Amino acid sequence: MAGQAYSFVDHKYDVVVVGAGGAGLRATLGMAEQGLRTACISKVFPTRSHTVAAQGGIAASLQNMTPDCWQWHMYDTVKGSDWLGDTDAMEYLAREAPKAVYELEHYGVPFSRTEDGRIYQRPFGGHMQNYGNGPPVQRTCAAADRTGHAILHTLYGQSLRHNAEFFIEYFALDLIMSEDGVCQGVIAWNLDDGTIHRFSAKMVVLATGGYGRAYFSATSAHTCTGDGGGMTARAGLPLQDMEFVQFHPTGIYGAGCLITEGARGEGGYLVNSEGERFMERYAPSAKDLASRDVVSRCMTMEIRDGRGVGKQKDHIFLHLDHLDPDILAERLPGISESAKIFAGVDVTKEPIPVLPTVHYNMGGVPTNYWGEVLNPTKDDPNAIQPGLMAVGEAGCASVHGANRLGSNSLIDLVVFGRAAAIKAAEVVDPKSAVPTPNEACCDKIMARFDKLRHANGGTPTARLREKMQRAMQEDAAVFRTQESLEQGCQRLTAIWGELADLKVTDRSMIWNSDLVETLELENLMANAITTVHGAEARKESRGAHAREDYKDGPMGGRDDENWRKHTLARVDEAGKVTLDYRAVVTEPLTTFEEGGIDMAKIAPKARVY
Ligand code: FUM
Repeated sequence: MAGQAYSFVDHKYDVVVVGAGGAGLRATLGMAEQGLRTACISKVFPTRSHTVAAQGGIAASLQNMTPDCWQWHMYDTVKGSDWLGDTDAMEYLAREAPKAVYELEHYGVPFSRTEDGRIYQRPFGGHMQNYGNGPPVQRTCAAADRTGHAILHTLYGQSLRHNAEFFIEYFALDLIMSEDGVCQGVIAWNLDDGTIHRFSAKMVVLATGGYGRAYFSATSAHTCTGDGGGMTARAGLPLQDMEFVQFHPTGIYGAGCLITEGARGEGGYLVNSEGERFMERYAPSAKDLASRDVVSRCMTMEIRDGRGVGKQKDHIFLHLDHLDPDILAERLPGISESAKIFAGVDVTKEPIPVLPTVHYNMGGVPTNYWGEVLNPTKDDPNAIQPGLMAVGEAGCASVHGANRLGSNSLIDLVVFGRAAAIKAAEVVDPKSAVPTPNEACCDKIMARFDKLRHANGGTPTARLREKMQRAMQEDAAVFRTQESLEQGCQRLTAIWGELADLKVTDRSMIWNSDLVETLELENLMANAITTVHGAEARKESRGAHAREDYKDGPMGGRDDENWRKHTLARVDEAGKVTLDYRAVVTEPLTTFEEGGIDMAKIAPKARVY
């Protein structure tokens, strides 16, 4: 067997975390703090993980600038999710958020400050006062417009301080699964010296981020290739709610780089070619601060109706030029620089050309709110997959349901990274033996690696990747139809077939970026094909899944009777996707009498901003 040509450097840990973004580092830090022997593997240097690009902030009901409470935050999250989020996870997020943010402050995150020294908070889309009935709430805690950067650097420093061990620029190949389906660790390739490392562990935590790069234009870094989803799918486990892909309203036209929603939080607004602030028409109360899916759809409709700006009338303007230049310099320095570099625009004088751009994946590896991966069966829809957790964008807790609110991502990373560490301290016994890896599984992993390394077909990886990205961009876009989604399924199935014809030109083991990109392409494909199949099957509009053929009725095309349920998608080696469904969790963690939310407040209704 080809795999036998590779020898392993063996490691044993209580916990191995794959990924060093906000969720991976918060989990790593928490595990190490509790005395578990913890390794963190990352394909990039930790502070280059994509969390570094998170700009606007992290949501928590601190009440530093406007009245707020966790119940309002939970209500906004439920409504933002278009009633697909799991109630227990959403309660956990909103309740734990203030604690998690104060922890970050004490770890050393340099938040921006109010005059009286408290953490500065700005308005963000979909976050309102008084169960959606009041004005926008200032809930998003910010470090200027470099909040992710500040968090990532702090968490990395704290993880080192607690003696977590880092394996940097190691690419995780696959999960080691025992004969009876327990996750026993992961095999990774050291990109720098070409050695192969076998990490045996009592718990593996996937924190590999999203798969934005399945699309042609994304705010996501080129490293966002859904590696955790790819590994999970190859282990025969399902992915959940993959059809829900978020488009951020303000990617820079052409370049795709993010202009934070914080820009609208600070008073920025969108206009069409007639100079009209069109959001006032679509969302009279929240206006430019309606939730992202809504704003992205409105922008798309304006462009389609011929009111786009520019020569091709194919984008929209974001105005910040009416704001005080000192405020721009203090609160939005990063995007002022991005606008200059990527759009040639001085934000104090001209509007920024923007377009809805792929930004976030609501779907991922299904978990409960402790980060434990679920492998639902007919008898037990909440059955736990032993030895495996997933957190952050790689996971699907499901706290964002069909649409995530801005700034609920950073809080998701730290709340659920922390929750995974709390749970691991309960279920991982530091005194128990580390599992002996299943040799047959290890051979299979290395045989796949070797096959790709020597792939000698006629299709370069970059060419097939672009084909996938264009198909996703065209067929699974802001608006979808039965026709576009059927076409997407056919195209993605054909592209899956072409994986067998890949050509890798570099056979070396050291810094072989051709092979890395090929491994990443296989991961992206598992995510992409489950996205289009889940979307084709879901006959309704909900959150970011906006179907033009399902838009009528009191709920605007949402069908709670038949579709208030999670999609579970499995994909086999031949690219065949099998779909199943799992009920949404509608029970809260605490009843009203115990101090929980009034359930009548979060009963399903039409989603209007
Ligand atoms: O617009 C932003 O700053 C992005 C934030 C987020 O996705 O949570």
